[in-house]
Amino acid sequence: MTSEGSAPPSLPRHVAIIMDGNGRWANLRGLPRVEGHRMGVRSVRAVVECARELRIPCLTLYAFSLENWGRPEPEVIALMTLLKEFLVSELPLLLRHRIRLRVIGETTSLPFAVRQVLEHTVSATAGNTEMTLTLGLSYAGRNEIVRAARRLAAEAADGKIAPEEITEEMFSTRLDTAGIPDPDLVIRTSGELRISNFLLWQSAYAEFAFTDVLWPDFGKAEFLQALEEYSRRHRRFGLTTDQAVKPPGK
Ligand code: IPE
Ligand code: IPE
Ligand code: MG
Repeated sequence: MTSEGSAPPSLPRHVAIIMDGNGRWANLRGLPRVEGHRMGVRSVRAVVECARELRIPCLTLYAFSLENWGRPEPEVIALMTLLKEFLVSELPLLLRHRIRLRVIGETTSLPFAVRQVLEHTVSATAGNTEMTLTLGLSYAGRNEIVRAARRLAAEAADGKIAPEEITEEMFSTRLDTAGIPDPDLVIRTSGELRISNFLLWQSAYAEFAFTDVLWPDFGKAEFLQALEEYSRRHRRFGLTTDQAVKPPGK
């Protein structure tokens, strides 16, 4: 294999993380699950700061899935409270680092008080351009795809578009992630090797990094390790190795 033209160690433009293992982290210490979630907030802060320092433009964190609504009510309430506290406490950090907050998911299901704080944080940071931090809240990939399909179907029914004109690009712009590039790297903590309904459409060609580390133990060192692993991958997007390492058009 020729080394000529091989991609230099590169940073992903978009990292998405399935933050898993809070409950097990707490269980191992004889603590209630919510303590794991509380400690998980520290990891969020560390990863956001690290991504920002490295100038990674997009970071997406899977914080609460649509399926997570099925958990015991006290845990759901505790998670919603932590989320509200996080949004309030981190606003100065987001503003200082010029980070824009976005949300993906069926946010209409979130409690009113959470939606209020979210709307405030999203609008207060809307003009920030250094990094986009996207939170998956009440998020599920299939649900997002169905909502996008409904939008397109409504536009077709209204005669605004013709069904045969629908393209992948048009579909992408009806997803919650419209305007955000597809993730280059998806990280999942806690040793689980599954996608759990996260960014199903967008991860078509993502690289995956799995670690046994539980989310509350995930920090800057673990994040850098995942990035290092990513930099050693050879992405081919369906092409041969020779094609994939050549600059476009050669
Ligand atoms: C991830 O940790 C956080 C959420 C899904 C909200 P878990 O709560 O899933 O922790 P485990 O997987 O039970 O250890
Ligand atoms: C995925 O974790 C969802 C989030 C990290 C928010 P889960 O703990 O809910 O996923 P499963 O149930 O192990 O697949
Ligand atoms: Mg879990």
